[in-house]
Amino acid sequence: AVKKMWGGRFTAVSPEFAQEFGASIDFDQAMAAEDIEGSIAHVTMLGSTGILPAGDVAKIKAGLEEIQQELADGTLPEFTIANEDIHMNIEAILTSKIGPVAGKLHTARSRNDQVATDFHLWVTHRLPEVVAAIDKLQGVLLKLADAHVETILPGTTHLQHAQPISLGHYFMSYFSMLQRDKERFQFNLKHASISPLGAAALAGTTFPIDRQQTADLLGFDEVYTNSLDAVSDRDFAIEYLSNSSMLMMHLSRLSEELIIWASYEYQYVELDDAYSTGSSIMPQKKNADYAELIRGKVGRVYGDLMSLMTVMKGLPLAYNKDMQEDKEGVFDATTTIMGSLHVMTGMLSTLHIKDANMEAAVQNDFSNATELADYLASKGLPFRQAHAVVGKLVLTGIQTHTPLQKMPLEQLQAASDLIDADVYHDLDPRVAVERRTSFGGTSFSSVKAQIKHGQTLLAEE
Ligand code: ARG
Repeated sequence: AVKKMWGGRFTAVSPEFAQEFGASIDFDQAMAAEDIEGSIAHVTMLGSTGILPAGDVAKIKAGLEEIQQELADGTLPEFTIANEDIHMNIEAILTSKIGPVAGKLHTARSRNDQVATDFHLWVTHRLPEVVAAIDKLQGVLLKLADAHVETILPGTTHLQHAQPISLGHYFMSYFSMLQRDKERFQFNLKHASISPLGAAALAGTTFPIDRQQTADLLGFDEVYTNSLDAVSDRDFAIEYLSNSSMLMMHLSRLSEELIIWASYEYQYVELDDAYSTGSSIMPQKKNADYAELIRGKVGRVYGDLMSLMTVMKGLPLAYNKDMQEDKEGVFDATTTIMGSLHVMTGMLSTLHIKDANMEAAVQNDFSNATELADYLASKGLPFRQAHAVVGKLVLTGIQTHTPLQKMPLEQLQAASDLIDADVYHDLDPRVAVERRTSFGGTSFSSVKAQIKHGQTLLAEE
């Protein structure tokens, strides 16, 4: 059996299946680059503080840089389960390159602050990538909104036709959700970009280390002010998973609508062939698989969040091995949100919008009923009474398949003598949209203002 790095006080090693169970190398190798980066910063500091002699530092650094290069080239020796995790695997490779002097690297450091440093770095590096991907999707939404300010469709509540809206207004609502998502990920940086390095195992160290220096070298904005907190804190990862969950929820709602809109009954949109799939048995099928998959993948991201929250909830300070379970969910969520953002961006930028079907839907329904009630209310009829009058007219209209704007004036006047011929202007769905000029409303002018604001938001990035 292989002697462990920590094996001094041990007389037996775990059976292979238990070692496999305990090892994290299968997944934490995703942090290999961060681990080497952290070690280079650490040894640089050990040199500049005089904790290690310059000659040793030079050897260790050169060895680490060689490993860095081999990692980039894909020529690194294979990691082994016997070496447990990425930290000890890298150290073992370093030892094989430069000999026992490699053992000096771990001076004034523990795997507890090492793994926390790697993980903080990893998340810190991902955040701008996530923000950029959200930005791209927002750009597509903005373009779609801009092209469809004057495309109208029935807005719904309870999935029932409610009031006519601008399609641009619809797209801008998702733009706003994504803006908040983006801001949450940007804020996430405040808690991810804190350096735990130098907290050592839990209590700090007797060596005269310089934590600010390693933090600066690694690009961290701050240094943890409490060593116990530094090695025990996974809040930044939970925040990341929470932000990811909310983002996925938004993408899922959008997906759901695309799926419904692409159905035979709606035909509001057609997904591009490049973003849909066929059936192996039914030749006519064109399925919204990608949208469904985004909707489906929300479950795993919620699961990742719930999993880490649960891992952390009962842990006494400081490090506990439970915390090794912190990483896979974050990696998985990252793959999922990045994939979902890219696919959604592609799907929307190639989307075929069937304006005529949307418009037809709004011409043959009763989504202008509020207009008639408002018309009567503005002529002095209490709104509750106006509501009842229009309700009755709608009932007749449903029975005779006649939308309000197609009813003859005599019929409307029989319901209320307050109605004049000018009512047909108000009943025009396009006018109904145009007149909703209240701030944030669906009027064409309001949508244009939203788009303009959206453009400045994106330009600021
Ligand atoms: N593989 C471990 C993890 O991911 C590294 C930290 C190990 N520290 C320890 N005291 N066992 O959490």
